[in-house]
Amino acid sequence: MTSLAKPKTAQTIQCDQTSVVVPDYLEKTYRWAYLNPKTVPWLSSQPVVEAILWGNAGRLIQKTVDEIENGQSVLQAAAVYGRFSTELAKKIGPTGRLDVIDVAPIQVETAKKRVAGYENAQVMIGDATIARPEQYDTVICFFLLHEVPEDVKSQVVTALLASAKHGGKVVFVDYHKPRKGHPLKLVMSKIFDWLEPFAKGLWIKEIEEYSDHSSRFTWQKEKIFGGLYQKVVVHKK
Ligand SMILES: C[S@@+](CC[C@H](N)C(=O)[O-])C[C@H]1O[C@@H](n2cnc3c(N)ncnc32)[C@H](O)[C@@H]1O
Repeated sequence: MTSLAKPKTAQTIQCDQTSVVVPDYLEKTYRWAYLNPKTVPWLSSQPVVEAILWGNAGRLIQKTVDEIENGQSVLQAAAVYGRFSTELAKKIGPTGRLDVIDVAPIQVETAKKRVAGYENAQVMIGDATIARPEQYDTVICFFLLHEVPEDVKSQVVTALLASAKHGGKVVFVDYHKPRKGHPLKLVMSKIFDWLEPFAKGLWIKEIEEYSDHSSRFTWQKEKIFGGLYQKVVVHKK
């Protein structure tokens, strides 16, 4: 991986999405995880991310990084805890560009610190349900869909597909229904019922089904860790 030159604080820029507000589902369901200044600093550390993903964080990050190329323009559709954004910025290299958006100001500030030192990365307020004003070579959606209600899943999928260039791709990495007899299936089911009420939508529906125009794209799904996770790569024809 390419190491980038001397650290310089990443920019937070105002985006055109001036009316972006913190959505109700985030405020009501995930305040403890993403909006509380007391919990965000420790939850955002890489060891916590590894624990939450049962030791699969490194592998899932690498499978995402493998989908992008040096010099590309890349959109990361929501902030992600741990070293995710820095790994993307390294892979893209100095001639590429990483735009990270998030609806929550505290997450923008946290992500900004994470990519400090990468002049190719910028972090801004933005809503993944709204198509970006420009199109990207690759759009990344890492563990966002399971955290949003069903109608919002459709809006995110539609907006992100619209934000990729023709010939570009969108990469979704998220939960998936584990195979029968998976040792973590019951535990994850209980955790979702308790803390993540929108996650089981991905146990029932394919990500492709959230798009109204799925035939305009090619969809490739890979199941990971006994099917508990999935990577879906969507090519825009
Ligand atoms: C990507 S998901 C979770 C990823 C994973 N659990 C992790 O390691 O961080 C969490 C982020 O999504 C953001 N988010 C939720 N709804 C959003 C939306 N509509 N547009 C952009 N960001 C959103 C939240 O503010 C939060 O920072």
